Formats: sequence, structure tokens, C-alpha cells
Amino acid sequence: MRTVTVTASSQYQVLIGKGLIRQCGRLLEELADPCRVAIIADDRVDSLYGNIVHASLMYEGFSVARFTFPHGEASKNLTILGEILEFLAEQQFSRSDMILALGGGVTGDLAGFAAAVYLRGVPFVQIPTTLLAAVDSSVGGKTGIDLKGGKNLAGAFHQPAMVICDPDVFQSLSEEEFQNGISEMLKYGVLGDPELFDKLAGGDFRDPKTCDMQALEEMIETCIAMKRDIVAKDEFDTGIRQFLNLGHTLGHGIEKESRYQISHGRAVAIGLYLIARAAERAEIAEKGIARQIRRALENNGLPWECAFTPSAVAKAAMNDKKRRGGKIHFVFPQKIGSCRIIPIPVDAMEEMVEDAMSREE
Ligand SMILES: NC(=O)c1ccc[n+]([C@@H]2O[C@H](COP(=O)([O-])OP(=O)(O)OC[C@H]3O[C@@H](n4cnc5c(N)ncnc54)[C@H](O)[C@@H]3O)[C@@H](O)[C@H]2O)c1
Ligand SMILES: [Zn+2]
Repeated sequence: MRTVTVTASSQYQVLIGKGLIRQCGRLLEELADPCRVAIIADDRVDSLYGNIVHASLMYEGFSVARFTFPHGEASKNLTILGEILEFLAEQQFSRSDMILALGGGVTGDLAGFAAAVYLRGVPFVQIPTTLLAAVDSSVGGKTGIDLKGGKNLAGAFHQPAMVICDPDVFQSLSEEEFQNGISEMLKYGVLGDPELFDKLAGGDFRDPKTCDMQALEEMIETCIAMKRDIVAKDEFDTGIRQFLNLGHTLGHGIEKESRYQISHGRAVAIGLYLIARAAERAEIAEKGIARQIRRALENNGLPWECAFTPSAVAKAAMNDKKRRGGKIHFVFPQKIGSCRIIPIPVDAMEEMVEDAMSREE
């Protein structure tokens, strides 16, 4: 088992290892005396892993309540959040009980937000079941829901008490869902780890059923450790945590423009390529970086272009939360493994995106 210790407003461990999901009861026992645990999961994940987690908790003497909601981003809303809160109240959950988010980023964000506001904060544990949630959303304490006006517009910082990551559960992910996680891992590579980028770039890890799980586990640890280092320095996202936004500003624009038909991971892939192109055109990045990223995306079954116009992508990206006054802070790659943040005036964005979406010479 690998362990990454995160030190933020609270300290907690991220445990990574095959088979851990079956031992979650024993692992939770290290956190709390047997109490009540609310397992929150979407319908798909509940039917795959709900009983396994339930049994492990019961075996160690925890008493379990389960809340299930329909899978998909559309559930990350106020209505489901309200239902979870009412469920906890009906079940008379107290501050000495615990919430367990079992699922992908949608479940983690929803259950984490419920844990942040129920009784002004109860402990919660994450068991990420998508690769994206494992390397990104389950660590760092950002929780939240979408509003009609946009994604992640309401939320809270609330760190989990523990994260249990069992790579065995990725076996049941579709190739497409798995690749959404690879997109985020490539992001970490471009941000600060050329070796990680190179390992992933050839596409050897694009299929959860055939890839080298030992090597994957090691890379998951690398990504989590990188996020841990950033979160430790800037938990509340006022400074260097912005680096994690690499590929995300344009990615969010693309996600929004597609009315969320393009998944987060795929939109980030396109955003990553476009920002590398923009960096290359503006001579911020060394030549060839965009082509290198494009190849890595292609080898991993990920897209690098979309059918939207530059103006539509720029406009949709302008509402990004990272906007400050008339400028948006973009993370630009300089070379694989090194990036910098440059504020771009909103007026100059459309031209930048147009340039990025123009044909490669
Ligand atoms: N809080 C953060 O820091 C943070 C960071 C990145 C992304 N996010 C959020 O995460 C969300 C995206 O996360 P996601 O891609 O995990 O989405 P998701 O939770 O919707 O999971 C994707 C799909 O995979 C299914 N699934 C999950 N685990 C499975 C498994 N092991 N086997 C088979 N199917 C499984 C789910 O039922 C769902 O249909 C977005 O809402 C995004 O905003 C949050
Ligand atoms: Zn992301």
C-alpha cells in the first residue's frame, strides 16, 4: 500500500493499493470508533461496489445507511444536495457520524459539499472510483455543485478525513471514462513531470484492462503527491493552486459550449492542446510542444480539436471563475514539465484562441 499524507487545514492520508475497497471498514476504524456511516453513491457505482463497502463496514461494527442518486453530471445540483441533507437529518446523523463518498468526481463533490454544510460540517471519507477522481477531485477539499448559471458555482472547502484509492475498481470503467483520467494525468506531466508525461504519452495506459497496474498505481501516487504539494501551499486557491487549472480555462469553455456533452476529461484534453498552441505561437513555449501534446492525446484516445468557433470557445471561457477584472489568468506551458501563469486581457482572448485553433504549420 502507498500512502500520501496531505497537510492542509487538517491532515489526512490518501491510501493507494489494490484490494483496499474490501478493507475500508478496517481502514475507517483507524479514524473513528464504530459509528454510523452514510454511503453516498450514484446508481451505477452503488450496484457495482455498494454491497462490498457496506459489508466491510458492517463487519467492523459500523452501522450503514445508503443514499443513491442517478449517475451523471446533471445530478450535481441543489435538488440532490437537498435530498442528501434531508436524508441525513431523517436518519438523525450527528457530528460523530461519517459520510462516505463512493464514486467519481460528481459523487465526491456532492457528498463532500453535503458533509461541509450538514450540521456545519461532519467528517467525510472519499473512495474514488474513477481515475479522474483518484488523481484529482478526491484530494484537496474542493466540494460543490453546479447551478443553472454554470458549473461548480456553489461549494465549500472541506477536506476529507481519509481517501481510499483502490485501482482494482478502474477495471469496470469504460475505456472512455478511464481516458478522461489519463487526460488529467497528462496535465500533471506537462505541469511538472516530464517523466510522467513520457510514460503516458505512448498510450500504453489507455486501457484499464490491459495496462500495467503496478506502474499505473505508481503514477497515481505521483499525481496525488503533486496535488498535495500544491494544496499544502495554497489550500484556498488564491495563488499557486491556479497551476492545476492548466488546460482547464479553455476546457471549461468547450465543456460549456457543448452543453456538457463533451466530458470534462476530453474538454481538458482539447484545452491542453490549444493552450500549448497558443503558448507556442506567442513564443512562450518551446517549438514542437503542441505537436508533442497532440500525439500524446491521440495515442490515448483523447481529442485535441472541437467543432466550435474560436469566438464561441473564447466567450464561453470568459465566464471562468478565474477571471479577475478585465483579465483571465492562463497557465501556459513553456516546455513539458514547466509552466507559467500570465494574465491575458479579456479583449485579447478571442485572437489568442483563434491563433490556437488555426492550422498547424
Ligand atoms: N473537487 C475537485 O477538485 C474536482 C476536480 C476535478 C473534477 N471535479 C468534478 O468531477 C466531476 C467529474 O468526475 P468524473 O469524471 O469522475 O464523473 P462521474 O462521477 O460522473 O463518473 C463518471 C461516470 O462513471 C461511472 N463510474 C464511476 N466509477 C465507476 C467504476 N469504477 N466503474 C464503472 N463506472 C463507474 C459513474 O457512474 C458515471 O456515470 C465533475 O463534476 C467535475 O467538476 C472536481
Ligand atoms: Zn479537471
